[in-house]
Amino acid sequence: MKIFLDTADIDEIRVAARWGVLDGVTTNPSLYAKVGGMSYDDVLREICTITSGPVSAEVIADDLEGMLEEGRHFAKIAPNIVVKVAMSETGLEAISRMADEGIRTNCTLIFTANQGLLAAKAGAALVSPFVGRLDDINQDGMIVIRELAEIFAIHEMDAEIISASIRHPQHVTQSALAGAHIATLPFKVLQQMVHHPLTDKGIAQFKADWAKAREALAARRG
Ligand code: E4P
Repeated sequence: MKIFLDTADIDEIRVAARWGVLDGVTTNPSLYAKVGGMSYDDVLREICTITSGPVSAEVIADDLEGMLEEGRHFAKIAPNIVVKVAMSETGLEAISRMADEGIRTNCTLIFTANQGLLAAKAGAALVSPFVGRLDDINQDGMIVIRELAEIFAIHEMDAEIISASIRHPQHVTQSALAGAHIATLPFKVLQQMVHHPLTDKGIAQFKADWAKAREALAARRG
């Protein structure tokens, strides 16, 4: 399963890239609002210099011409830009038109398998079910991932599933087991995946024992 970072924070993206675990990035207006300081275009341009994987840039317009205009604009920023379009009747049309033009899209705000199925049929390269936001309202978000993975496999559909709105490391494991092709994570969740108290304890123990062994050797040698 591929790992994307769900952030517009350049520093976080650089760190994940250095760890060798970064396959792509997803951004959205809320994530961009958190960082500020640069235009959205400049943030996207910078991210695309760090990763050659897909980088999602979200359109804001809710009319077809506006979506197409923004999508075409983003697609010119870098070859790995994927245009993120929210699920809606107009969004499906925009996805279909962009697919005809060779622009890759990521259909976002997916909450049911049927929405994901329609997005894939319209031509979205990526579909993003929001697991955490479903869990937040007492529905099992992972069911959508499982159902879509099965539907895409049965019908040999090419779209990839991005497990989005990930809240904790367990969501990542569950997404991988449920058949998501990608999980997009906040940086904090990526860090949580690295650590385990027994790993940290074990590293400290090895260091202490190593020092003890060297001291004993030095004492024996006089
Ligand atoms: C996906 O691409 C979205 O940016 C993201 O996962 C939304 O997550 P949230 O529910 O934490 O805002």
